[in-house]
Amino acid sequence: MTTRILGTGSALPKTTWTNDDLSAFIDTSDEWIRTRTGIIRRQIAAREESAASLGAEAGRKAIENSGTALEEIEMILAATCSDEGYFPSAACRIQAELGVRGAVCMDINAACSGFLFALHTAHAYVQSGIYQKILVIGTETMSRVIDWKDRSTCVLFGDGAGACVVGKDEKGILGFSQYSDGSRGSVLTGTAATLATPGDGAHPAGALFMDGQAVFRFAVKTVPECIQDTLEKTGKNIHEIDLFVLHQANSRIIHSVAKRLGAPEEKFPINLNEHGNTSAASIPILLDELNREGRLERGSLIMLAGFGAGLTWGTALLEW
Ligand code: UT7
Repeated sequence: MTTRILGTGSALPKTTWTNDDLSAFIDTSDEWIRTRTGIIRRQIAAREESAASLGAEAGRKAIENSGTALEEIEMILAATCSDEGYFPSAACRIQAELGVRGAVCMDINAACSGFLFALHTAHAYVQSGIYQKILVIGTETMSRVIDWKDRSTCVLFGDGAGACVVGKDEKGILGFSQYSDGSRGSVLTGTAATLATPGDGAHPAGALFMDGQAVFRFAVKTVPECIQDTLEKTGKNIHEIDLFVLHQANSRIIHSVAKRLGAPEEKFPINLNEHGNTSAASIPILLDELNREGRLERGSLIMLAGFGAGLTWGTALLEW
């Protein structure tokens, strides 16, 4: 027996900012952002929206989609690195919003790898028999931790949440690989949360900093290696994989990973053009979109891959 994703959900803020909207207040252009990243637009949380409210909406949809009763959810894991405060956790606030009284709740911070790390944690709880049904959520309000005066990072990110319900089943997770290297953490840091909104000129000292080229090199080297790790562990080969659901940071990274692996680009779905980089939410949002479009066939093999601050990175192979 293993752990299967029983249902998915996602939620996005109501407000969309195009590249042209950003170029109204910072020195950038639609052409630069599209050609360097593939991003066209992203959703930005309004004051009344939060990592908890978006996470709760995504979680509610995942619970409905899985056919699970609310009272069956025994644990809520929220992967986030951009919540509005240190405590209570996003997971506890999501619990309150959903009314899942019996669940044990906590956040996991592995930045853009957070959803994968949370999924692996849920898998361990399910396989140990401690909990049967777990709600796993990636939820971010990156717009509140980025420096809106730094054009090299603020054009990249968006807000949103994705979620899934997991439980024991015969098919599901086939294998995992996870890595962390804190000694290289200085290339991507976020040291203060803020309520800054686009265009208001306010940003705290120490908001998100990224050495983009260093992170780019890290991603295109480690993601293919980590995919190969999981293929070896599970006895599968690259040609057997039906879809590669990668963290949505930059379409050039995704194309480079496809090329290095010798896998067709059509197997690498992309939605970062619509949502930007939503950090821990990007993989579950894309999974939910694919699920609702009917593109995840029962029995197909899906490789998930995340990478980001920490540094952290990981892959998971699922039999859907
Ligand atoms: O989710 C976490 C993981 N994060 C990532 O995976 C991000 C990885 N890195 C990247 O995706 C890319 O490195 C970026 C998209 C962040 C940057 O692309 P790049 O091709 O590495 O650009 P660059 O940083 O080398 O900058 C090239 C030029 C510079 O100008 P000069 O020095 O050549 O005159 C920048 O000042 O582009 C300039 N630039 C911009 N121009 C217009 C940087 N940002 C912008 C901008 N608009 N927004």
